[in-house]
Amino acid sequence: MDFSDAVERAARNYGHLPNIFFIRDDITKTKFPDSCIDYLNCDQTIMHTQNPDRAFAELVRITKKNKGQLACYFYAKKALPRELIDEHFRSQCVKMSRTQLWEMSEQLAELGRRLSGLKVSFNAPNIPALGIKGGRYDLQRFLYWNFLKCFWNKELGRQTSVVTNYDWYSPSLARRYSRKEVLDLIKKNGLRVSHFYQEDACYSGRFVR
Ligand SMILES: C[S@@+](CC[C@H](N)C(=O)[O-])C[C@H]1O[C@@H](n2cnc3c(N)ncnc32)[C@H](O)[C@@H]1O
Repeated sequence: MDFSDAVERAARNYGHLPNIFFIRDDITKTKFPDSCIDYLNCDQTIMHTQNPDRAFAELVRITKKNKGQLACYFYAKKALPRELIDEHFRSQCVKMSRTQLWEMSEQLAELGRRLSGLKVSFNAPNIPALGIKGGRYDLQRFLYWNFLKCFWNKELGRQTSVVTNYDWYSPSLARRYSRKEVLDLIKKNGLRVSHFYQEDACYSGRFVR
């Protein structure tokens, strides 16, 4: 399920498979009855809704009571400077045309490429008040995690690097969660954690109703 035409593209690519339905609809108010889905997987989507907690509750509602499973992915909060820049930046990005946004994404990828090309790494100090984790960093990765999304990955190539920047700044809504916020949400919805995974960019898990 997706409310954009992405679902139609997916149906064109995979419609030949016998056991898949492609539904163009809003995950925040699905028309499914309560407790009807054995296993529900929601990847990188609730954060783009107006009220992600409410979207999550809707997914819980349709997951089967008594051992139905819900897998979900949450964007993680980054260091404070990056969060502040992202928040302000996103409010400016909605005013840009798609072309301008693409150009900016190319510039960010180019910035990442040049920083990465310096081949500088250093030991950053721990600065807990700003959420900056100390340790050995490449300069581009340090700026990336703590200040500005200037994604660049040589192996993935220029196009994918540009798309990754575009994909981050184009949605007008993209909530980030702390670990505590995710776990509180799981608890509030009466779910049990079956599997929990975390890395710098995200939290994800499988939760049992
Ligand atoms: C980052 S993409 C993830 C797409 C896909 N789940 C994946 O993992 O590749 C976010 C998707 O959420 C969709 N989306 C955002 N809000 C939605 C909503 N309320 N209902 C359904 N889809 C929504 C967007 O159209 C977009 O395709």
